[in-house]
Amino acid sequence: MPSAHGGEVEAAARRLGIREARLLDASASLVPWTPRLPLLLGQAVLRDYPDRSHSSLRGRLAAVHGIASSSLLPGNGAAELFTWAARDASEAGVSMLPAPRFDDYSRALACWAGSSRSIPLATNWSATMPQAYPVGDRGEVLWICNPHNPTGQLWSRKSLESLLHRYRLVICDEAFLSLVPDGEQQSLIPLVADHANLVVIRSLTKLYGIAGLRLGYAVAQAERLQRWAEWRDPWPVNGIAAAMAEQLLSSPRRYQCWCQKAQAWVAREGAWMQQQLAQLPGITPMPSAVNFVLIRAEHSLVPLRKALEQRHFILLRDCRSFEGLGENWLRIGLQSWRGNRRIIRALRQELVRAPLG
Ligand SMILES: Cc1ncc(COP(=O)(O)O)c(C=O)c1O
Repeated sequence: MPSAHGGEVEAAARRLGIREARLLDASASLVPWTPRLPLLLGQAVLRDYPDRSHSSLRGRLAAVHGIASSSLLPGNGAAELFTWAARDASEAGVSMLPAPRFDDYSRALACWAGSSRSIPLATNWSATMPQAYPVGDRGEVLWICNPHNPTGQLWSRKSLESLLHRYRLVICDEAFLSLVPDGEQQSLIPLVADHANLVVIRSLTKLYGIAGLRLGYAVAQAERLQRWAEWRDPWPVNGIAAAMAEQLLSSPRRYQCWCQKAQAWVAREGAWMQQQLAQLPGITPMPSAVNFVLIRAEHSLVPLRKALEQRHFILLRDCRSFEGLGENWLRIGLQSWRGNRRIIRALRQELVRAPLG
């Protein structure tokens, strides 16, 4: 079975009989550098129960986004918050889910036996972003991912805003938005104050390269978030994660500097990868606004993915688990300058050694 999530480095190293450090993991899409772990967070972080209201962390997030801290709820990664959003969604009615999509929305809905239908997204998108999210037959809840994983499409705030009055609940996953050059202009966060039916979910995982820490947050009106807080277990965000996040977000300026660095990397390396991939025989890179790119071929790319793993120790994301994609697609997460050159070299070698088709 193809993996339903990227980033399974430990399992891949075991399979290949090598140390994890030898692998280049382009199957997950994180920035390739990580903030230094403060050596001393203070013994209290271990000893004391975390503040259940997370008032300090909420204050930092509120300052970063310029919103009220009552409209913020930190979570154990965005994934935990999808679970609570899905509980509301299952009560509101049928969820419309884009296909292909990040599959955790289905996992979250399944927790509450929530019903859903897929909205197929066109796979022949172009560099011009669609002006409106395609609406198929109607449901009560709309799930949006902006920019979209796995396609890398970015929708404008304007085109999404016009959908808000059509659904009882709109859940917008902005896990990757802070990595998109000028992406913040398309965020739906400023619309939350006037739309009680809107939930925006963000993640610090991709932006800081901290998948292991587990930190995300929801932005929605206070009443909804208070309800979620009563449902969840008492300390979903552990003390180390909260303390780390408070340091990373110690000032809006610090956060913005980090975002600028990440966005400059996406702009530079994304453009280089697009150009290089377009020159390789038999594959076509799709346009992307963010730090991953889908490639497509007329033939199965499974042998190519396996060759990269086994002969070059490079992990790419198999797309067979994405509804609407399949074996002719792969997703590549942008890496450091050196890592991207290693990927292109390996792809070129393999496509010459074993041409597709
Ligand atoms: C689109 C999208 N949203 C959310 C998440 C989950 O983020 P977190 O690590 O904060 O749970 C992922 C993880 O791959 C993702 O791809």
